[in-house]
Amino acid sequence: MKPTGSFDRVPAPLRLGVNIDHVATIRNARGGRHPDPLRAAHLAIEAGADGITAHLREDRRHISDVDIARLKRELTRPLNLEMAATDEMLAIALRHVPHACCLVPEKREEVTTEGGLDVVRGENHLRRFVDDLKAAGIRVSLFIEPDEKAIEVSARLGADVVELHTGAYCDRALDDDAAGFAEQLERLREAARVAAAAGLEVHAGHGLTFNTVGPIARLPEVVELNIGHFLVGEAIFSGLSSAVQRMRALMDGARSGLGAPAPAGEGK
Ligand code: PXP
Repeated sequence: MKPTGSFDRVPAPLRLGVNIDHVATIRNARGGRHPDPLRAAHLAIEAGADGITAHLREDRRHISDVDIARLKRELTRPLNLEMAATDEMLAIALRHVPHACCLVPEKREEVTTEGGLDVVRGENHLRRFVDDLKAAGIRVSLFIEPDEKAIEVSARLGADVVELHTGAYCDRALDDDAAGFAEQLERLREAARVAAAAGLEVHAGHGLTFNTVGPIARLPEVVELNIGHFLVGEAIFSGLSSAVQRMRALMDGARSGLGAPAPAGEGK
C-alpha cells in the first residue's frame, strides 16, 4: 500500500503565478509610470501565467495601492495579494476582494521575505485574519517553512492553502551544495505530502529559477508556483514573454515526466 498522501493517479496541473513586484521596483527607481506592472501582468498572462501575484508591502517599496486597484479591476486572471497580517492590509484586502491572499511575514529592514510566517507563535494573532478573509470569500494562503508543525497549525487555522518557502532550497543550489540541496528538497517533498494529507492545497515559491524549478514542479502535491524576481531579471536579457514561456515549458516538462528520475545535474 502506498503511504497516505502519495499520488497514484495523474497529478493536478501545475499553475504559474507570476509575481510582478520587481517591475514596480524598477518603475519606482525613477518615480514615473514606466515600466507599468499592469502591462507586465497582461504580457505574463499572454505568455502562459495562470495568475498574477503582487505583494503590497507596508513601506510600499514596490507595488502601490493604485497598482492593486488597477490589477483587481483589469486582470483577466486571478490576483493573489501577498500581505502582512496587519489591520491596514486586511482593510485593503476586504476592499478589493482579490481571488486569494497570501499572508507573509514582513520586516521593514529585510531585502525580501526572509523565511516563512511563524504560525506556531502567531496562531492567535493570525486567526482573525484567516477568518475575516475567508468570510469575504477570499482564499487564504499561509507562507510557511516546509515544517510539519507549521502545517499542523495552518490546517487548524482553517487556511485553504500553504505556500512552502523554497528559499533555503534555492540558496543551496546557488552555493553548489549538492547534499544541502538534496536535504532541502526532501524537506519540501515531505512537507508537500503532509500538507496535502491534511487537506491543504499546496503552493511553493521564493527564489525559483530555470535551474531549480524542475524538482519542485515534480512534487505531485504542489499545484501552484509563484515566481517573480528571476523572471523580471531574466526579462532584461530575453524579454518577459520569453522568460515566462520558458519557465512554463520547464514546469510542464517536469510535470509530465513525473515518476521518472530527475535528469542528472538538475537544480545545480
Ligand atoms: N511567494 C511568496 C509568498 C513571496 O513572498 C515571494 C516574494 O515576494 C514569492 C513567492 C516570489 O519570490 P521570488 O520573487 O524570489 O520569485
